[in-house]
Amino acid sequence: MQSVRSAELHTLICVAGRTQEALYSEIDLELSWSEEDLPQVERTKHVHSLHPYLGKFIPQLVEVFLKRYFRPGNCVYDPFAGSGTTLVEANTFGVAAVGCDISAFNCLLASVKTTEYSLGGLELGLRGVLEQARSTSEVVTTESASEWLRSWYSGRALSELLAYHCVASQSLNDPSWDVARVILSRAARSARRTTHFDLDFPREPVTESYWCHKHKRTCKPVDEAMKFLRRYTDDTVHRIREFAAIRSDEPVEVIHGDARDVDLPLEPNGIITSPPYPGLIDYHEQHRYSYELLELEDRRDEEIGPAIRGQGREAVQAYVEDMIAVFGNAHRQLPAGAPVIIVVNDAKDLYPEILERSRLSLEERLTRHVNRRTGRRAGEFFEDVLVCAADG
Ligand SMILES: C[S@@+](CC[C@H](N)C(=O)[O-])C[C@H]1O[C@@H](n2cnc3c(N)ncnc32)[C@H](O)[C@@H]1O
Repeated sequence: MQSVRSAELHTLICVAGRTQEALYSEIDLELSWSEEDLPQVERTKHVHSLHPYLGKFIPQLVEVFLKRYFRPGNCVYDPFAGSGTTLVEANTFGVAAVGCDISAFNCLLASVKTTEYSLGGLELGLRGVLEQARSTSEVVTTESASEWLRSWYSGRALSELLAYHCVASQSLNDPSWDVARVILSRAARSARRTTHFDLDFPREPVTESYWCHKHKRTCKPVDEAMKFLRRYTDDTVHRIREFAAIRSDEPVEVIHGDARDVDLPLEPNGIITSPPYPGLIDYHEQHRYSYELLELEDRRDEEIGPAIRGQGREAVQAYVEDMIAVFGNAHRQLPAGAPVIIVVNDAKDLYPEILERSRLSLEERLTRHVNRRTGRRAGEFFEDVLVCAADG
């Protein structure tokens, strides 16, 4: 496997107080892939990209740590399961997995990715819903939808989304209804009245034509949803089939809960996780459309380190205490010496205190080079992987 280009690395000056030279010598090349080594299609393989999600880690990273620290038949825990990357990789590797997340949408997504389906019935049901929604959307009214929905969607797009919701909720049983909710959410994300270049952080609905930085021409905001529902139905069925061909029978449990006090239904042998970091992302808000459209419980007040609370002293101190609560709660449910792998860009150097007070011994701090070539967050940067062991 090719290493990252040294010229790219040398453009960076300092991370978390370390000099460029020190950092460069610490890079773990097995964890640092160039675009050629690991193209996007591999990073987004099968169910990993059933729905966009900001703040995901790449599946290949999880795979490396499963191979290094877990044996088939073990169980891995991710207290911040997010879109379910650890759980999906654990299943194909052949270990049981338990994931917890405070965001109901993230739990829905993780569980849709890891559920085993009767594939023929699933596909038939989803295609039937699409057909019926298409033929009923013209008679669906939007007056009773929330103000947020009415401002972010054209009348036509909203009718189509509501028609799909109505037909799917009435005709599908779990787990097909859950899959339909993910398709609906993904279509709702694409059908918002926003610019093509600002799907991650749109602020205001855009109702007029605009100059598009992505396509270098004048574009119009989207005014329909059906084409997305159709496209994402095909893509979802295809991705679920791909995963079904390689999945194992190991159990996967997804818990909608607070990692500070959750009781685990399986006994984990260790942890692989990427925690939130203070003041960077609002995990509920990034999928606002899903909370508006689907019947999901909103627990944003229990999110750790949300962007909305900023990066002031108080917010950072609260984050440290919350992380200690999470790892302390996990610790009591882990065997002594269990591996705890934490992927985090600890720019504020908060983890020495968090680890010490959670009774986790740092065995290795690996630095990985991250390629980010898409979207507005493009650029090169580094990330740490803290390899710890639970004290006895
Ligand atoms: C960096 S993301 C994890 C991403 C994940 N590794 C993936 O690949 O999709 C952090 C996650 O922590 C979750 N989170 C924040 N506060 C939490 C809490 N109190 N309990 C459990 N999860 C929480 C967020 O909802 C978010 O999904």
